[in-house]
Amino acid sequence: MSRFMGRRDALRIAGAAMITLASDAAASRGRSGAFDQAPADDSLHALAAAKGLRFGSAMAARQLDDPRYCAIIREECGLIVAENEHKWYAIQPERGGEFNFGPADRLVAFAKTNRLAMRGHTLVWHHPKWMPKWLPDLRSAKAAEALLGGYIDRVSTRYHPFLTSWDVVNETVDEKTGDLRETQFSRVMGPQVIDFCFRRAAAAMPGTQLVYNDYMSWESGSANHRRGVLKLLERLRRSDVPIHALGIQSHSNYEMPNEFTADKRREWRLFCDEVVAMDLDLLITEFDVNDNRLAPDVANRDRIIADYTKDYMDIMLSYPRTKDVLAWGLVDKDSWLQNFLPRADGQRKRPTVYDASYRPKPMRDAIAAAFRGAPTRSRT
Ligand code: G3I
Repeated sequence: MSRFMGRRDALRIAGAAMITLASDAAASRGRSGAFDQAPADDSLHALAAAKGLRFGSAMAARQLDDPRYCAIIREECGLIVAENEHKWYAIQPERGGEFNFGPADRLVAFAKTNRLAMRGHTLVWHHPKWMPKWLPDLRSAKAAEALLGGYIDRVSTRYHPFLTSWDVVNETVDEKTGDLRETQFSRVMGPQVIDFCFRRAAAAMPGTQLVYNDYMSWESGSANHRRGVLKLLERLRRSDVPIHALGIQSHSNYEMPNEFTADKRREWRLFCDEVVAMDLDLLITEFDVNDNRLAPDVANRDRIIADYTKDYMDIMLSYPRTKDVLAWGLVDKDSWLQNFLPRADGQRKRPTVYDASYRPKPMRDAIAAAFRGAPTRSRT
């Protein structure tokens, strides 16, 4: 049994919730559960499960109204994560206002109906830009703990034990300096605000995998970010804070996929080595590929992206501690990257697994090949 909920517990709970909900779609795929055994097909979920991995994707509530997107999720995924709907600013948009669980609950219901596991993203996005806009300046650590702890309790318990993994804290390390970001909470609680979030989450949802999630990457500009994340993780481990995994978002934001050189791979491995040496699992939580500076030819772009995907996955899957692979969306046209650093030529980017017409791209073959070649791991 692992430190957090074992797969059999998860299955038992999911199974109980699903007795009346199992969808025809999932049943016709012969899937017996979210990740208990490898289904007899070649979906990405099945290929991952055969190696003790899970494959999944982010999904937005509006995509529940897109039957083609839903079909791809059902076909390919063993788990989903809400793209925005579990964020504090989405759940509690106004001070003292009603909690808006509606969109997140719709995604949870979809996961249950389709026998998918689900991760939570994110309890506390500890970044001033993404805190709820209404957050007041707090006068004391006690006031901060009451507000933050109350929110963590409310959201954690609502979804416990269905969500077996949560990004408890997201992106608190400043990418430029490697220091912790300052928020209304850290101003009065100090860096221990992070410890507090993990301890509170552990108390509210025992058995849940508790994750620190961030976007440090192999890119050369990310060295301070990597250092800062390692420093944070070391401190949390030293203080015996309940944390089980590092969520490696795996956006390559600024450098192109054909710039993943041997030196950068080496640096990246050193980072991952240090994380697993701290006895933490690795999760790929938000994979996509930014192609804003690649030449426009589509076939060539897709090939470069697929080659990079295979190389990156091979490295990550060589670590037996890598347990989950989640794409940050499965269809190019819906990717957040279409609005982030858009291409100078105005062409649509091709950052995900399926194109704008819902056709699988070479990136899908690359992920499948990486799963086929990956060593088997245990999920404990
Ligand atoms: O809700 C409004 C909607 O009413 C309006 O029609 C639309 C028009 O632009 O904007 C909508 O809100 C946007 C929301 O995405 C839904 O599309 C927000 O302005 C926009 O800020 C928000 O962006 C999300 C971003 O996180 C910030 O929360 C992206 O979708 C989402 O992909 C992105 O995800 C983050 C992870 O959480 C953390 N890691 C990085 C990753 C990418 O930035």
